[in-house]
Amino acid sequence: NIPTRVRIIDVGPRDGLQNEKQAVPSEVKIGLVQRLQDAGLREIEVTSYVSPKWVPQMADNHAVMSGIARQAGVRYSVLTPNLKGWEAAVADRPDEIVVFGAASEAFSQKNINCSIAESIERFAPVVEAARAAGVAVRGAMSCTVGCPYEGEIAPERVAYLAGLMKGIGVQRVDVADTIGVGTPLKVQRAIAATLQHYELDAVSGHFHDTYGQALSNTLAALELGVWNFQSSVAGLGGCPYAKGATGNVATEDLVYLLHGMGIETGIDLDKLVDAGAYISDFLGRKSGSRVAVALLNK
Ligand code: HMG
Ligand code: MG
Repeated sequence: NIPTRVRIIDVGPRDGLQNEKQAVPSEVKIGLVQRLQDAGLREIEVTSYVSPKWVPQMADNHAVMSGIARQAGVRYSVLTPNLKGWEAAVADRPDEIVVFGAASEAFSQKNINCSIAESIERFAPVVEAARAAGVAVRGAMSCTVGCPYEGEIAPERVAYLAGLMKGIGVQRVDVADTIGVGTPLKVQRAIAATLQHYELDAVSGHFHDTYGQALSNTLAALELGVWNFQSSVAGLGGCPYAKGATGNVATEDLVYLLHGMGIETGIDLDKLVDAGAYISDFLGRKSGSRVAVALLNK
């Protein structure tokens, strides 16, 4: 059942940097995207079109999207929570937009300032406009195993959200463990709940590594046949509305795991480590990737 090939979306420029306190210049973000595509990433989540008051780090979305040197075959995605975000984003020609909902009511309120039902009402016209414009649509589902405000989340909540996403035409979805509390069997249950509404090919794993479980959870997802994953170079990140949550699993660590299992990714690990070193040096901190640290100390 374990796939022989995996597709990775690096979300470092968006999920990784959105919570960064120091302003990261647009040129550095553009430099990061360049290094990721040079390393062989074929999907990159570049930025978000959200309120600059809520997430100041993403306020330069237009500068970043218009500054990247696009490479054929690479899919550049951006977050758009509402029509205002979509209207700004479409001018910058993303290949895919991401609407983002939560399996937890409390998290939905904190993150996007509305209930789950209201969020779906806001997403519906965005999805419709994107599909009409030929732009692909992905749906991120936060808190699919645990929520910082509500605690454990039942798989039924995930199935409910996945069904709503499907109902408005979202083409594929991310099963996100936003705060990294998940363990393999819980993550498998969240994925199984999602599979009630989506094909395996349309489901990806998005695991934060707060509790050090992300790679184990990845293996658990692989066992179900999931072959799309999101990760963040150098393990950058955290969510502004999930206090204490650390970054996504580091892309370097994910690639090392996959290559070690004989699973193809199309990524050059050495170049990826260089991309991680570039952003870690800029931020003035050690990489959050265990693999990158090990390789750089070799
Ligand atoms: P709201 O306050 O409900 O929206 O925010 P509103 O329509 O009432 O507008 C309020 C103000 O925001 C107005 O400005 C709007 O113009 C502005 P004002 O008149 O006060 O100056 N506004 C916008 N500005 C720019 N772009 C927009 C936009 N929409 C409204 N698109 C909103 C709703 C969603 C915008 C707000 O709550 C927000 O920006 N939240 C931030 C959400 C966010 O970026 N969270 C982090 C990403 S999600 C994540 O990390 C999880 C994920 O990784 C998966 C996982 O790990 O779980 C994806
Ligand atoms: Mg995330």
